[in-house]
Amino acid sequence: MAGTGVFAEIIEGEVYKYYADGEWKLSSSGKSVSIVNPTTRKTQYKVQACTQEEVNKVMETAKVAQKSWAKTPLWKRAELLHKAAAILKEHKAPIAEALVKEIAKPAKDAVTEVVRSGDLISYCAEEGVRLLGQGAFLVSDSFPGNERTKYCLTSKIPLGVVLAIPPFNYPVNLAVSKIGPALIAGNSLVLKPPTQGAVACLHMVHCFQLAGFPKGLISCITGKGSEIGDFLTMHPGVNCISFTGGDTGIAISKKAGMIPLQMELGGKDACIVLEDADLDLVAANIIKGGFSYSGQRCTAVKVILVIESVADSLVEKVKAKVAKLTVGPPEDDCDITPVVSESSANFIEGLVMDAKQKGATFCQEYKREGNLIWPLLLDHVRPDMRIAWEEPFGPVLPVIRIGSVEEGIHHCNASNFGLQGCVFTKDINKAMLISDAMETGTVQINSAPARGPDHFPFQGIKDSGIGSQGITNSINMMTKVKSTVINLPTPSYTMG
Ligand code: G3P
Repeated sequence: MAGTGVFAEIIEGEVYKYYADGEWKLSSSGKSVSIVNPTTRKTQYKVQACTQEEVNKVMETAKVAQKSWAKTPLWKRAELLHKAAAILKEHKAPIAEALVKEIAKPAKDAVTEVVRSGDLISYCAEEGVRLLGQGAFLVSDSFPGNERTKYCLTSKIPLGVVLAIPPFNYPVNLAVSKIGPALIAGNSLVLKPPTQGAVACLHMVHCFQLAGFPKGLISCITGKGSEIGDFLTMHPGVNCISFTGGDTGIAISKKAGMIPLQMELGGKDACIVLEDADLDLVAANIIKGGFSYSGQRCTAVKVILVIESVADSLVEKVKAKVAKLTVGPPEDDCDITPVVSESSANFIEGLVMDAKQKGATFCQEYKREGNLIWPLLLDHVRPDMRIAWEEPFGPVLPVIRIGSVEEGIHHCNASNFGLQGCVFTKDINKAMLISDAMETGTVQINSAPARGPDHFPFQGIKDSGIGSQGITNSINMMTKVKSTVINLPTPSYTMG
């Protein structure tokens, strides 16, 4: 159970502590932040409301800890990460329980998130020892005008203190996707979890403590974004920010100093369906891609662009599958669970009502109880409807019927997002042309958009983000190249 057993020390009374300098602490603010359970809409947990002074202290200790961590042999860093991964998996049950209560993630998916996170950490360790165990050797005489008098040796060095800000939808997994690469590369890490998901993150961080990471190397600071958000992201002690979330990322990138940024800010992933597509495969992927975790994924299918001649048939197939989705509490492992907050449910409802007023066809009756919204397919959506462009982050999915592939590509590219997209066709040549024409970070051919496997590159263009993620890219992003040039008095040619 969350907050018990090995996790008993991370809670005092009913309030979870924050983690700094290798210890679980109470904030001097004496205040806490409540975490509302999306299902019951009642306070489930409380976490510390940390102060700016506490942020300053965390930054100081992170800076000191990083210096000696960078001198820790790579194999030892990897060893500790493997240990943390094993401990995390061992304690998957209480962490998954927190995910169910804080963010209403279906019970089985919550367990999967923790296990996937353990695997991700181990992969970071493996990838890190290979990637960081080698550099480059360059000679000068390949550039015009030079003799072979200079040898350049390059290696990858850490950036310093990495600030990690994951979102509510994968608080554990999208935290470790930043923590693993940062630590293996020799950085220290300050984690600011989302409020909903903070308790799962605190448990996950405790697994790193149990693994024996040096004090101060990892910290987890909780609190109100309004009080410590800007203070953290603009803090002079931060050398890199890795953020996943919404529009806030645009504000962060405008305010951040001259430091590397890794940002993933959502998407409006289009699913383009051609006449020759296997419609059963498409329907199955629309259900998985559009409705898993109630559509609260950056990579969810968020608009279907289907050629008119096969639209009726596809809509019927999707409707039949929507009817089979179970709706209810995450504890029962239902397919559709309450969305994260009342404001989110209200926003989704606003998009649905706008579409209704403008004449969209509802394939199911719109139904909502509290934060629970029944799955809804909206047919005959037109570009003048908000839902054609905006990201609902909920179980509602628009269908736009298109007269040509070009029309579909045009709609996809007119979006201010550009995370992923997908195309369904049996013609690989057409699929390649469409993929090349789609202005998105990734295009999936004959499958729904998805970030994983977690070592694949993951990136968005336009408002969807900055930089590229995936384990290898994240390790590279959280390092800098350092060169040492050996200057010889006379040219030297090997075996010359
Ligand atoms: O930020 C990415 C996340 O929202 C989706 O990840 O693994 O469900 O594709 P995934």
